[in-house]
Amino acid sequence: MRVLVLYATTEGQTRKICRFAADRLVSEGHSVELLNAEDAEGLDAGRFDAALLAGSVHIGKIQPALIAAAREHAGALAKMPTLYLQVSLAAAGKDPGELEELREIAREAAEGFGWEPSRTEQVAGAFRFSEYDFFKSWAMRWIASQHRQEVDPGRDRDYTDWTALGEILDDWAASAAERR
Ligand SMILES: Cc1cc2nc3c(=O)[nH]c(=O)nc-3n(C[C@H](O)[C@H](O)[C@H](O)COP(=O)(O)O)c2cc1C
Repeated sequence: MRVLVLYATTEGQTRKICRFAADRLVSEGHSVELLNAEDAEGLDAGRFDAALLAGSVHIGKIQPALIAAAREHAGALAKMPTLYLQVSLAAAGKDPGELEELREIAREAAEGFGWEPSRTEQVAGAFRFSEYDFFKSWAMRWIASQHRQEVDPGRDRDYTDWTALGEILDDWAASAAERR
């Protein structure tokens, strides 16, 4: 299949996740175009068989650039199998209230896209202190303390479950290939 991987990232973890996804899909024989949503102008989405979209949650919202690109190409994307990966730190926990908030954020994202992804998955992201300015670093330490998480502001911390993500990708790609 020809697969579009369209993402938005603020501190880089979603880019890392999408590079992993691209490598995985290529290793299974698919051809992949990895594209930052900021660079989606002029994209011909109709030439793909399937699309993976990914964005990360910041203060309860995903990046407007991903929503804008998904909406701009709604006509083509709505017709193909799609997977939406929503990256956040709340996805690393088990708090039912926070998980419901993530589902609500994904519903709002789909409304913004103007079409419903065939599959949506919540993916745990990372603390990236190396990318934060003073205020973000302070805010993230406070969030970590609220969740009783020990974080060392001198070190990044990756919560993404790469094995589980690989399985999601394999499963989605297999069902997308069947649907073709
Ligand atoms: C300023 C800021 C606000 C954030 N807000 C949320 C939030 O509302 N909910 C959440 O679960 N995670 C939140 N996060 C965590 C990010 O979603 C997480 O770090 C993710 O890995 C970022 O992905 P990116 O590096 O691709 O931007 C926030 C992170 C930052 C820096």
